[in-house]
Amino acid sequence: MTPLAPTDPRPTLLIVDDHRALAENLQDIFEPQGFRVLFTPNAEAGLGLARASGFDLALVDVNLPDARGTDLLPKLREASPDGEVVLITGHATVDSAVAAVRGGAFHYVVKPFKVDELVTIVQSALRQRALRRERAALRLRLTRSERRYREVVESTQVVMLGLDAAGVVRLFNRHAAALSGYAPAEALGRAFVELLFAPEHHAALRTRLERAAAEGEPQEFEAPLVTRDGKSRTVVWNVVATSAQPPAPGFEDDEEAPLSLYVVGGDVTERRALERRAAEAEALAHMGTLAAGLAHEIRNPLNAALLQLHLLARGVGRLDAAEGAPLQGRITIVEAELRRLERLLSDFLELARPRPMAREAVVVATLLESVLDFHEPNAIARGITVARRIAPLRVVGDPERLRQVFHNLFLNAMEATPSGGAITVTCHRDATREGFGCVSFIDTGRGIARGTLEKVFEPFFTTKEAGTGLGLSIVRQIIERHGGRVELESAEQKGTRVTACLPEASG
Ligand SMILES: Nc1ncnc2c1ncn2[C@@H]1O[C@H](COP(=O)(O)OP(=O)(O)OP(=O)(O)O)[C@@H](O)[C@H]1O
Ligand SMILES: [Mg+2]
Repeated sequence: MTPLAPTDPRPTLLIVDDHRALAENLQDIFEPQGFRVLFTPNAEAGLGLARASGFDLALVDVNLPDARGTDLLPKLREASPDGEVVLITGHATVDSAVAAVRGGAFHYVVKPFKVDELVTIVQSALRQRALRRERAALRLRLTRSERRYREVVESTQVVMLGLDAAGVVRLFNRHAAALSGYAPAEALGRAFVELLFAPEHHAALRTRLERAAAEGEPQEFEAPLVTRDGKSRTVVWNVVATSAQPPAPGFEDDEEAPLSLYVVGGDVTERRALERRAAEAEALAHMGTLAAGLAHEIRNPLNAALLQLHLLARGVGRLDAAEGAPLQGRITIVEAELRRLERLLSDFLELARPRPMAREAVVVATLLESVLDFHEPNAIARGITVARRIAPLRVVGDPERLRQVFHNLFLNAMEATPSGGAITVTCHRDATREGFGCVSFIDTGRGIARGTLEKVFEPFFTTKEAGTGLGLSIVRQIIERHGGRVELESAEQKGTRVTACLPEASG
């Protein structure tokens, strides 16, 4: 019972027994076995020692002068939760045995006992204690490691999903929720393919997943993710099989369905858009050289034709009215067509080598009405009704360029809309951006396929036999040069809405 430094590595044996001779005996037995032995004759002092220095094992007499050992037992366990307690009694009763077991005693020894018997009990109590500690330490390590992995998964800026063997989402990280718009609770338990992709991609995706799962062949591919609100994001996906083993027999229900695939996705929407813009710019630069050459070649004969037309008109003017009038009408048409050709030529050049723009206050209604007045008879002839909802707004811009924008957008709407359809043209303040006015062309036409949607602004992209595919490229270039933006929404077989927003003129 020497005072000991707190760093003493020996296991502590606490003896609470008023039987001094027995206590000393035990000390003689256990100290040589490497124990640090603390001895105290009553319950109060025993509890004090346990609280002060803890114990690995306590040997407690049931009949103590100041308490019952069975009553002391729970207090000792509370003072040193890791320690084991062995009760010793001279008179075994059923009651004390039951109390010992209830209180969590490791063993119950009846006097007189053999020394060997007690040594064995003490050793196995210590083994039990060591096991319990190890289990606690492992559990702690497991919790920490789990937390670390969870943190990695949750804080990463990539989409991370876990799928079970049926392709059902079982893990859905924070970034997946942010990108897709689905809360984890909405996504968990749903089929991955159906939740996040358009039907036309389902078959190909299922093949990918099967290949990754069955053949262990990691898959990397690009496929658009459809967000909760129906927007499309371009995502590069990586799918790998997990190393999960099937659950051991009898443990099938131990956990929720085990993961069979990990799916990691990186959003490349912006990157792809930039790449596309760069490719377009290159195509435009290329086109610039080509167009300049072409323009030169075409302009000369065009000017010559216009000059000859003027001379012809002057000659016709000298004829009498009855003879001259019909010819004059034809001359006017030819001239209009030649001017249109000239304008088309400038369009090419405009796109390839934009000229400086005028910046003046433009009354949108006037410009828009004149474009619509020009086209409406044509639309009506095709069985299309035209509705106008035009608020009085003024924007800053180049009226000729804007006329061309409205002209291109109306033609696209008209060309997409079958007989019986409608085109609605609106002019309104921008609801999302202060100081902007917008013009929308809404048609009930055939719409644009999802996969085509991102290509329609590319120069030369057309689905029409006689289209140049320049219409929307010019629209976007003009609007963006005005400091505005163009938005396109479309649903197949339902219709399309193209909206161009421009800075409003002040005052
Ligand atoms: N309102 C619309 N409805 C359906 N599809 C449209 C609509 N607007 C544009 N598109 C699609 O976008 C493509 C590109 O349009 P864009 O105006 O750039 O060229 P284009 O109309 O084909 O040719 P151009 O304008 O030179 O005559 C069209 O071919 C068409 O497939
Ligand atoms: Mg067009």
